[in-house]
Amino acid sequence: MNPARPAAGVKLCAMSDLEDPGSKGFRFRADTRLFAGFVVRRGDEVMGYIDQCPHAGWPLGALDDRYLTRGGDHILCAGHGGLFTLDGLGVSTPCVGDRLISWPVTVRAGDVFTA
Ligand code: FES
Repeated sequence: MNPARPAAGVKLCAMSDLEDPGSKGFRFRADTRLFAGFVVRRGDEVMGYIDQCPHAGWPLGALDDRYLTRGGDHILCAGHGGLFTLDGLGVSTPCVGDRLISWPVTVRAGDVFTA
C-alpha cells in the first residue's frame, strides 16, 4: 500500500468544481512517495481512478485536470492515445479490454470524498 494514498473520508473537491463531464487530478505526498489519482464527473456520478495507464504505467493526463477527450466522452491517455470509457474500460489500442485501477470516491452533500 502506498503510504501517500489518502485514507477514506478525505474531501477532494466540491461537485461544483467539476465540469459535467469533467475531470480533476489530485496528488498526495508522504516523504518521497507520491499518490496520483483523478476523478471524472458524469452527471451526478463521480468515478475515481489511480493516475496510471494499464498499458505502460504512465500517468494519463498530459496537463493538470485534463483527462478527458475534447468531447468529454472518453478518458484519454496522453502516453500513446489509449481511450477508456468514463467507467474505466479500455476501448482503443493499445488498451482494448484493459481497465483503469479504481480509486473509490463518494459524493456527500455536494462534495467529493475518498471512500
Ligand atoms: S501509456 Fe497509456 S496508452 Fe501507452
